Amino acid sequence: MGYKLKTAVVGLGVIGKVHLKVLEKLEKNVVAVCDTDLKKLEQFSNIKGYTDYEQMLDVEKPNVVHLCTPHYLHAQMIITALNRDINVLCEKPLCITREEIALVLEAEKRSKGKLGVCHQNRFNPENLYLKEYLKDKTVLGAHGNVVWRRDANYYNKADWRGTLKGEGGGTLINQALHTLDLMQWFFGMPKSVVANCVNQTLKDTIEVEDTAFLNCSGGAVDFSFFATNGGAISFPVGVMVKTKEETISVQPNKVLVGDRLINFDNGCEFFGKSCYGRGHEGLIANFYDCIKDGSDFEINGEEGAKVIKIILSAYESNGQKVEV
Ligand SMILES: NC(=O)c1ccc[n+]([C@@H]2O[C@H](COP(=O)([O-])OP(=O)(O)OC[C@H]3O[C@@H](n4cnc5c(N)ncnc54)[C@H](O)[C@@H]3O)[C@@H](O)[C@H]2O)c1
Repeated sequence: MGYKLKTAVVGLGVIGKVHLKVLEKLEKNVVAVCDTDLKKLEQFSNIKGYTDYEQMLDVEKPNVVHLCTPHYLHAQMIITALNRDINVLCEKPLCITREEIALVLEAEKRSKGKLGVCHQNRFNPENLYLKEYLKDKTVLGAHGNVVWRRDANYYNKADWRGTLKGEGGGTLINQALHTLDLMQWFFGMPKSVVANCVNQTLKDTIEVEDTAFLNCSGGAVDFSFFATNGGAISFPVGVMVKTKEETISVQPNKVLVGDRLINFDNGCEFFGKSCYGRGHEGLIANFYDCIKDGSDFEINGEEGAKVIKIILSAYESNGQKVEV
């Protein structure tokens, strides 16, 4: 494609603004934005605005649409855009039920458009380093950790948060999804999971879990995973790996291999909160490169569905071993 692709963005909340900043930096051609909230649209009055995303897709005929809306809308918006052969970059999670996974993957197969899922932490330098470093290592086991604090103030900001219908779950399907996705990316898709998911600190605020502990086994490497939104304060996420030779610890921007520290703090720009990482720019640039040269985008529907299958299995587990 020799011409400049036309881009549209749906959802102008916290992360939609991050996408727009990155699109501006990458000099993409944003032709329209959409939000049902007129106040959000007013903040982008320099771009043509819509309140109905289907109308926007039909009138503007964008080549690419970024979906930055609440979880429960992802599947229907992805399918609507793919049915029009539009390339779709959807924020995580891909979707929130097994039925939706099947429908989204069918639509992806039928469409001439590509589907990409925003698992931007795969583009963070420390995670790319670990992925490469482990290639020729024998890994004995691993653990992932997400200890964050999200209180009533956070959940009260939008009515979809903290509800089964709107969010599809709690800490696992929202805050911890990125790190759990990295675990399966590094260590392979588990065959089974045993999990306990509880609401430990936010019983008056949310109907979904704020804390979960998973044992994932049967993949290339067994791993455990702990995630909570009920920490005393938020800590950097972490992944620990034991190989035959050494213990490796990964945190945002650094990897400790034995007692050797590798620092990736190279001063590149954050577009949102630091806990989102720096990966949005790399992921979005790569998605557009793939559209232009017709190559596969790695984090497609099937890839985005993997972590959702682990999470839905964890929700079904209730302390029992379940197949993923
Ligand atoms: N990748 C990341 O690190 C990251 C970080 C934050 C959020 N997210 C994801 O991004 C998505 C949005 O999260 P957020 O925090 O920006 O939420 P938000 O509530 O701040 O924003 C959502 C926006 O969507 C709009 N919206 C709702 N229904 C709509 C509709 N039918 N048509 C058009 N617009 C509609 C809302 O008015 C709101 O402005 C979620 O899936 C979330 O998990 C990802």
